[in-house]
Amino acid sequence: MTIQPAVSLKGKLQVPGDKSISHRSVMLGAISEGVTEAENFLAGADCLSTISCFQQMGVRILREGTRVRIYGKGLHGLTKPEDVLDAGNSGTTVRLLSGILSGQEFSSEITGDDSIRRRPMNRVIRPLTMMGADVRARYENSCAPLIITGRPLTGISYQSPVASAQVKSCVLLAGLYADGPTSVTEPALSRDHTERMLRYFGADLTSSGTTASLLPGRPLCGSGIRVPGDISSAAYFIAAASLIPGSEIILENVGINPTRDGFLRAAAQMGADIQILREYSDGPEPAADLLVRSARLHGTTIEGDLIPALIDEIPMLAVMGAFAEGTTVIRDASELKVKESDRIATITENLLAMGADVTPAEDGLTIRGGAPLKGCVIDPHMDHRIAMSFAVAALAADGESRLLQKDCVSISYPMFFRDLSALAGS
Ligand code: S3P
Repeated sequence: MTIQPAVSLKGKLQVPGDKSISHRSVMLGAISEGVTEAENFLAGADCLSTISCFQQMGVRILREGTRVRIYGKGLHGLTKPEDVLDAGNSGTTVRLLSGILSGQEFSSEITGDDSIRRRPMNRVIRPLTMMGADVRARYENSCAPLIITGRPLTGISYQSPVASAQVKSCVLLAGLYADGPTSVTEPALSRDHTERMLRYFGADLTSSGTTASLLPGRPLCGSGIRVPGDISSAAYFIAAASLIPGSEIILENVGINPTRDGFLRAAAQMGADIQILREYSDGPEPAADLLVRSARLHGTTIEGDLIPALIDEIPMLAVMGAFAEGTTVIRDASELKVKESDRIATITENLLAMGADVTPAEDGLTIRGGAPLKGCVIDPHMDHRIAMSFAVAALAADGESRLLQKDCVSISYPMFFRDLSALAGS
């Protein structure tokens, strides 16, 4: 697809539902008593993979557009899948499901696409094994396919070496099936959607600092979930409106959970003009309408405890850094190497193709910004977030760009190009 520079972005948009929360509404709904109805569900490929895995385990799930009804089977009602479970491109599906599958009375196997089969699963195999689970990689590489044989589980106090919501959630979900309390402590707080939804569904879960503790034994009760807009999807439009002079947009109903709003904080540090117009909380997650106007950006340092709160937005922040005056340093983010692509490599490759001054590091990037970028051929390496971040870069660059593999955006935002064209008036 070819992308021309944009004149300005104008108008109002409601970005699609949050991917992490959509996944969790299906997973927790499936193991709850009663019906869970999720509204504004993200019908992206990743969340559809989660739906189909649970359908394979006997859960009735009906979807009409963005409304999904999950007929819960309770903690012990899932049935043995007849085939290998396919998580597609979704790390959240493999890792969170491993926790649930470890506590079942059947064995199962879960795998995914080429990218998933290269991503590290030791981070969940290790704590699950400590709980007494039988989880093995089919090959000697600690990656999916994973073969999981349900076993009685023991509660543990787990000190996670990584700030990862997928690891934390996996252990807490296995903890629902354990014989005693389970807690997870992380080096920095990762997104807490699992904790919020577990509490909302009636679990005995407490959080203190970077520790979440679960006492098993209470049944989960299905409930209505209104999924807020995904801040990770909003980030592309916030960046585009900030970078392209004369822009003014309103983004409605964007999730602003404090464990996810790092992008707003980092963008503000860079001088972005983002105003919260209205805040509302409808269920376990806070949301807001945002007004974004173009602004002159300057470089900043993004590091430490802020990283988990914006980990998926780093490709977009790196692009913003390339247009900003001065130097942007991103560090403490070695997790980027094990996302849907090695994002340190894929960000660097595409920024260099646009003529930016960027130096990759083991745990991040340094970008010396301010010089104009030029249109180029963008290769996202099948990574949806790289494709969308560089589509925005192409709108703000000089000359035409050509984006390869544009369809990979369907993982988290199938209608991305329609929405971008609507605001860019093209
Ligand atoms: C997610 C957690 C994050 C994030 C991913 C979604 C989740 O991964 O990058 O896109 O829904 O729990 P990690 O837990 O590996 O940091």
